Amino acid sequence: MEKSVMISVSGLVKTFGGKNNKVIAVDDVSLEVHKGEFVAITGPSGSGKSTLLNLLGGLEKPDSGKIIAAGEELTAVKDAQLAEYRRRRSGFVFQFYNLIPVLNVEENISLPLDLDNKKVDKKELDDLLELLGLTERRYAYSGQLSGGQQQRVSIGRAVINKPPCIFADEPTGNLDSKNSREVISLFKEIIAKYNTALVMVTHDGSIAAEADRVLTMTDGKITDERVRSF
Ligand SMILES: Nc1ncnc2c1ncn2[C@@H]1O[C@H](COP(=O)(O)OP(=O)(O)OP(=O)(O)O)[C@@H](O)[C@H]1O
Ligand SMILES: [Mg+2]
Repeated sequence: MEKSVMISVSGLVKTFGGKNNKVIAVDDVSLEVHKGEFVAITGPSGSGKSTLLNLLGGLEKPDSGKIIAAGEELTAVKDAQLAEYRRRRSGFVFQFYNLIPVLNVEENISLPLDLDNKKVDKKELDDLLELLGLTERRYAYSGQLSGGQQQRVSIGRAVINKPPCIFADEPTGNLDSKNSREVISLFKEIIAKYNTALVMVTHDGSIAAEADRVLTMTDGKITDERVRSF
């Protein structure tokens, strides 16, 4: 059976700085991510992992190259459409959660829908809160939550729109090993339930080992690719 391609990237280049301090953060990267696939990206600090993820998620624009995400060529769209892609078709999870402190758990999770003037489906929200283990904490503010709980809220916010792909940048970087394992098993449940792909940057070898495929970046390039043997 042919695997359906969620994201297809070719010849992606992103540089920062000017003439004298130019950094090639992403240097001619090509890759594909398939439906329901969990891809981990590892590599040394400064190798371009976050920059690549930000390009895939439409947070930054490449200098050159092509990104096709869920059938749409991101590199061809205008800023307003790119913002729409970020809101509706991708979900981001960051190391430090980035929750809005004045919103409670369910308001933080529903935020992408609110920004789109869409109503949250009560049953879907209830099911998601249950999956996240946050039903009892649905009215709590982020300052009242543990790190693991805050990260689970941010995962809920990333998945509420059922995006074709979730992007996570060191989502366990601020968590202890128990919470890290919980977050990874939650991601796996979400992939299965929502049939979404997951691209995750991680420094943690034991987490990368859980992925279907592990890409290693060095100096802006993908220098190694391993497929998990089952
Ligand atoms: N906004 C920016 N302005 C200038 N240089 C940047 C910017 N963002 C990233 N860079 C540079 O691009 C390169 C890649 O950075 P990136 O953040 O993608 O690395 P990383 O692999 O995620 O590293 P880490 O593991 O430390 O998070 C680095 O040399 C970094 O200094
Ligand atoms: Mg990074």
